[in-house]
Amino acid sequence: MPETKSALRLSCITKEYPLVRANDCISFDVRWGEVHAVVGENGAGKTTLMKIVYGMVRPDAGEIFVDGRRVEIHSPSDAIRLGIGMVHQHFMLVDVFTVLENIVLGQEPKRGGGLDLEAARRSVRALLEEVGFELDLDARVEELPVGLQQRVEILKTLYRKARILILDEPTAVLTPQEASELFRFLRGFVARGNTVIFISHKLAEVMEVSDRVTVIRDGKVVGTVETPKTSIAELARMMVGREVILTVEKRPATPGEPLLVVEDLWVEEAGKKPRVAGVSLSVHAGEIVGIAGVEGNGQSELVEALTGLRPYRGTVRYEGEVILRPDARRVREHRVSHIPEDRNARGLVLDFTTRDNIILGDHYRPPFVDRYGFFRDPAIDEYARGVVETYDVRPRSIRLSARHYSGGNAQKIIVGRELYRKPRILIAAQPTRGVDIGAIEFIHKQIVEARDQGMAVLLVSADLNEVMSLADRILVMFEGKIVGEVRPEEATEEKLGLLMAGVTEAATA
Ligand SMILES: Nc1ncnc2c1ncn2[C@@H]1O[C@H](COP(=O)(O)OP(=O)(O)OP(=O)(O)O)[C@@H](O)[C@H]1O
Ligand SMILES: [Mg+2]
Repeated sequence: MPETKSALRLSCITKEYPLVRANDCISFDVRWGEVHAVVGENGAGKTTLMKIVYGMVRPDAGEIFVDGRRVEIHSPSDAIRLGIGMVHQHFMLVDVFTVLENIVLGQEPKRGGGLDLEAARRSVRALLEEVGFELDLDARVEELPVGLQQRVEILKTLYRKARILILDEPTAVLTPQEASELFRFLRGFVARGNTVIFISHKLAEVMEVSDRVTVIRDGKVVGTVETPKTSIAELARMMVGREVILTVEKRPATPGEPLLVVEDLWVEEAGKKPRVAGVSLSVHAGEIVGIAGVEGNGQSELVEALTGLRPYRGTVRYEGEVILRPDARRVREHRVSHIPEDRNARGLVLDFTTRDNIILGDHYRPPFVDRYGFFRDPAIDEYARGVVETYDVRPRSIRLSARHYSGGNAQKIIVGRELYRKPRILIAAQPTRGVDIGAIEFIHKQIVEARDQGMAVLLVSADLNEVMSLADRILVMFEGKIVGEVRPEEATEEKLGLLMAGVTEAATA
């Protein structure tokens, strides 16, 4: 039976970093023909392990077997030669190249001395046919939505004949539809005898797509279970080591005065369709207003306008005041906090320490500087430690540089920074992206508590579950406009899904 043969066997893989042992003698087996999920808390060591398998990180000790044979993997090209492909969370495509160019980059068929793009086109076409993807090979990558960019990444690995495909949090940036298309592909891929290693914090997806799950905690394997014999609750317990409450507990909102009022806001670029086309909304003290929508329908631009990062036309009142020449600093001084959607571009300075990232944006003001403008280091340290402890940032250092945190812990630093300063208004985009289930529970609780103390929250999330469970009112955004408002108790995925696709009649009928 080929299905039960070992595709990849890890034997006591160990990797030590200065502050943590990221992988502590990890051993498990992945079979041909299965989707094998790897789950664990933020910082458990999943990405490190996969980078070791893909040759990007050297382990201190341990052995890797592919197809039963001991192998040495010193670089990604070694991994590729062994049939291992990896799709990273941050895509590594060349934006200005076409889909075809990106797929064949580095492996172009040559004819004479030149490049034979037509031969490449034929073989990529055949590949598309085989896996059932539709993709315009001549489109420039920068013009594609993320779901399609991910397909390009996948095709790139298949073009290099990957038989073991590693996906590190592939659905974090996908819409529910894109995610189910990805799953259909993955099931077909393993049905042809290949193997998928699937890392995700979304346990419902893990239950849906995987055959077996290996749980990692603190760099060690807790166990491998067969998916049909486990449950979300059991996986959560194995990951976190305690029971996790999976639903948000909150009382009905008691909204106060309007704190954020937006009137007829437009974001436009010359010669292009308006990104935000006349949005009006208000968020009151003590309420959470959710914005649901397929990514790319103006939510990002709306958030950037409201946080002073992008020029707009229209009126925005913060606590009743219009800010003259708004920029990020002035908006922030009005006790507006912002959790940005792209944590690496906007949220953190990767070469700064935790501590410096935590005061970023307020660093020029008391209590962080004295009246002569000098930094008050003890006050800064104490504050940073408060954030790191409260938000369970691991490792617990305030001096590690931001780039050395796992994805979820980096997110916790940002959420902690933005909430710890006790804002009046919180504008949160994808606040729990990449965060583990225990940390989501905690962040949601913090947001609800701050709401109950009178904070106004505007929540933008691609995660419908998050919007439905947190928001007190849900607005749906489509092509730059608010196309509907739904009360959470009346919201269903179908109803929101239709509105998100621009179908207003059917959804409101
Ligand atoms: N280059 C590095 N230098 C120092 N520490 C590192 C480095 N890379 C990773 N680590 C540490 O190793 C541990 C494991 O990180 P890893 O990224 O593997 O976690 P993860 O399980 O992928 O978490 P997440 O779910 O948040 O993505 C973390 O504590 C992280 O801070
Ligand atoms: Mg990771």
